[in-house]
Amino acid sequence: MLGPVLLAAARSDSIRRIVSAAPVTRPVVDRFVAGERLDQALTTLRALTDRGLEVTFDHLGEDVTDRGEALRARDAYLELAQALRTTGLGERAEMSVKLSAFGQALPGGDDIAYANVLPVVEAAAEAGTTVTLDMEDHTTVDSTLAILAKLRERFPATGAVLQSYLHRTEDDCRALAGEGSRVRLVKGAYKEPASVALQDKHEVDRAYVRCLRILMEGGGYPMIGSHDPRMVAIAQELARRCGRKPGEYEFQMLYGIRTAEQERLAGAGHRMRVYVPYGTDWYGYFMRRLAERPANLAFFLRSLATR
Ligand code: FDA
Repeated sequence: MLGPVLLAAARSDSIRRIVSAAPVTRPVVDRFVAGERLDQALTTLRALTDRGLEVTFDHLGEDVTDRGEALRARDAYLELAQALRTTGLGERAEMSVKLSAFGQALPGGDDIAYANVLPVVEAAAEAGTTVTLDMEDHTTVDSTLAILAKLRERFPATGAVLQSYLHRTEDDCRALAGEGSRVRLVKGAYKEPASVALQDKHEVDRAYVRCLRILMEGGGYPMIGSHDPRMVAIAQELARRCGRKPGEYEFQMLYGIRTAEQERLAGAGHRMRVYVPYGTDWYGYFMRRLAERPANLAFFLRSLATR
């Protein structure tokens, strides 16, 4: 029941100010965020790759309200791509971007977001890596998929995220299950109305399995974005039935969540990618993690209580 409240708080500026200023917040944020600066993110990358893991970086930021902020988001990713290129780490790390950080919600936002993300996708290709477009709330899905289609004309490896809680997603999976398509399937992290999204957790799980089956049976590259042991086991079984070998799909989990399981899967020969957020604008990301799981919230409240 607290989940929807926290998801609403994730979009509130006044609660953002209170949570961000609380001194106890920082240590809890550090569990989920790799640092504020690029050099800290690169240190995390090296630590994770030493343990056999791969990475997708998220330079934190979303819902920008002016063009200047959108350009700064673009520049942060260009700097990241440059670092991946010069360090030769592009083979082990890709980049995840939120188009709302690139200006998608501004007037004329589709064109602005496309113009800002295109150089990032070009820079990623030069660094030997790719970009995946994160998926935000349901109002952005058509725009994000249209921008994806344009990017894929020149950069077919550009990836997308689909959310199993949306009623539309099985159709989107069919449309994106073709050769060369990279799709991260997640359950979905936003507060959505019943008119567009399933509300019952078990139904979301069942939809996840149906979507995963479509992606596994298709010709693309499925990326299983879930910490759920049942989804991980079902994905392995579906991959086996579809004749997919490790390397023809991958698991993805968030930084700081089920770390031992991440290493176990990598040790068992699976490709395991960790989603590593960094940067100063951690509030929305952090609140979605608290909303997802009572244990995350309890961890936060315990650290408040033990101060
Ligand atoms: P869910 O929350 O349904 O939990 C199921 C089970 O998993 C639990 O009962 C428990 O066993 C286990 N589990 C979950 N969290 C755990 C924890 N912290 N510790 C131990 N066990 C745990 N969303 C979105 O809308 N757009 C996006 O672009 C993305 N991108 C993205 C990237 C990656 C790599 C991941 C992993 C996730 C996202 N998400 C996302 C978030 C996603 O939509 C979803 O909210 C979370 O992954 C939570 O759902 P799960 O499937 O992980 O487990």
